[in-house]
Amino acid sequence: MLLHIDSSADPAAASVSRRLTDLFTEVWRPLHPAADRVYRDLSADPVPPLTAAYTALGRRVERAGLVPPHKVPALIENAAEAREWELTLPLVTEVLAAETVLLGVPMYNYSVPAALKAWIDRVSFPGAFTDPDTGESLLRSTRVVAVLARGGGYGPGTPREHADHQTPYLRTYFRNLGVAEENLHLVTAELTRVDLFPHPPVLEELAAASLAAARAELTALAAGDGPAPGRVPE
Ligand SMILES: Cc1cc2nc3c(=O)[nH]c(=O)nc-3n(C[C@H](O)[C@H](O)[C@H](O)COP(=O)(O)O)c2cc1C
Repeated sequence: MLLHIDSSADPAAASVSRRLTDLFTEVWRPLHPAADRVYRDLSADPVPPLTAAYTALGRRVERAGLVPPHKVPALIENAAEAREWELTLPLVTEVLAAETVLLGVPMYNYSVPAALKAWIDRVSFPGAFTDPDTGESLLRSTRVVAVLARGGGYGPGTPREHADHQTPYLRTYFRNLGVAEENLHLVTAELTRVDLFPHPPVLEELAAASLAAARAELTALAAGDGPAPGRVPE
C-alpha cells in the first residue's frame, strides 16, 4: 500500500510539493495495479492537535510497557481518551499497512508545516510502531519518500545552510521511528519562489536544475529503481 500524504496549504496548481508527490503517484500507480493507495490531505482535512486525554492515555500505555495498538482500548479510562484513540488509531494503522509513505512537505518558517507536525505528534503514540515481542521497530522495511519544497536555497556552503530545520528534523524523526537509512529518501526542490523577488538569472537556472533533479529522483524512486543489473554497489 502507498500512503500518500500532502501538507501544503496551497492547491496543486500552486504547490511544488503536491505536484511532485503527484508525479511519484503517476509513475507508481501503473506499476502496482493491484496495490492500494491511501491519500491524506492534512491541509484540507487537518489532524486535531493533542489534548490532555491523549497524553494521559499515552503515559498510562508507556507505564504498562510495550502495548500494541489492539491492546490500548483495555487501558482507556474515559470518553475523552476513547475519542483521542479513535482519532489516532486510523493514522497508526495506515502507517503500519504502508510499504511506502510518500510525504509532501513545504518548508514553512524553516521547518515543516504545523499541519504535518500535528499528524506526526498524533501518529507517534507510545509503542505504536514497536514489536511488543522483540522491542524492534515495525518500520524497518517501510520506505519513506519525503518531498521537501522550499522557497530559498539551503545547500552546502550557502549562507542559510544552518537554517534548514526541515531536513534534519525529518531525518531524526523517521530514523528514530526505526526507518532504515537506506529506506529514507528526502528529495528536495529548492528556490521554488525565486520569481517573487528581484534575482540574478543564475538563481532561475539553479531553481530549474533543482526541480529537474527532484523530478528525476522521484521518477526513479517510484519506478523502484535499484542499481542497474550487473552494477556492483559501492
Ligand atoms: C507560511 C510560509 C512560510 C514559509 N517559510 C519559508 C521559509 O522559512 N524558508 C523558505 O525558504 N521558504 C519559505 N516559504 C516558501 C515555501 O517554502 C515555498 O513556497 C514552497 O514551495 C512551499 O511548498 P509548496 O509549493 O508545496 O506549497 C514559506 C511559505 C509559506 C506560505
